[in-house]
Amino acid sequence: MKHIAVINGPNLNLLGAREPDTYGRDTLDGINAMLAERAAAWGAACDFFQSNSEGGLVSAIQRAASCDGIILNAAAYTHYSIALRDAIAAIGAPVVEVHLSNTSAREAFRHTSVIAPVCRGSIAGFGPTSYVLALYALTHP
Ligand code: DQA
Repeated sequence: MKHIAVINGPNLNLLGAREPDTYGRDTLDGINAMLAERAAAWGAACDFFQSNSEGGLVSAIQRAASCDGIILNAAAYTHYSIALRDAIAAIGAPVVEVHLSNTSAREAFRHTSVIAPVCRGSIAGFGPTSYVLALYALTHP
């Protein structure tokens, strides 16, 4: 069985209530429950973690180093956290960058991802389905 870590960054604990026109009405718990179901169907198991702090996310990435893959929505840290970039580069596990919204279609400061060059791939713009696509990619090599 494959073990996949699902790591979410700042303000994603507010999903459902936060800017629903941009991020939708699904809660993080709802997205995680849906992912757990998909994972079971695809012979995998997911661990879920969310933090609003950069250090918490760095530690979570380090802890997940021996997983078969990491699904990471680094939220705003995507755009400027060299600490997260270095954490991803330091481990062997493949990391898939995900975003609910299409960051390329939004403000210019969201067009840059400092983590993308060290991730296996990036998926953005499909709402909660972005996470499912990442899970599919990591469980169907
Ligand atoms: C986000 C996009 C980021 O630019 C933003 O800071 C977020 C959420 C997304 O999932 O669309 O918090 O990562």
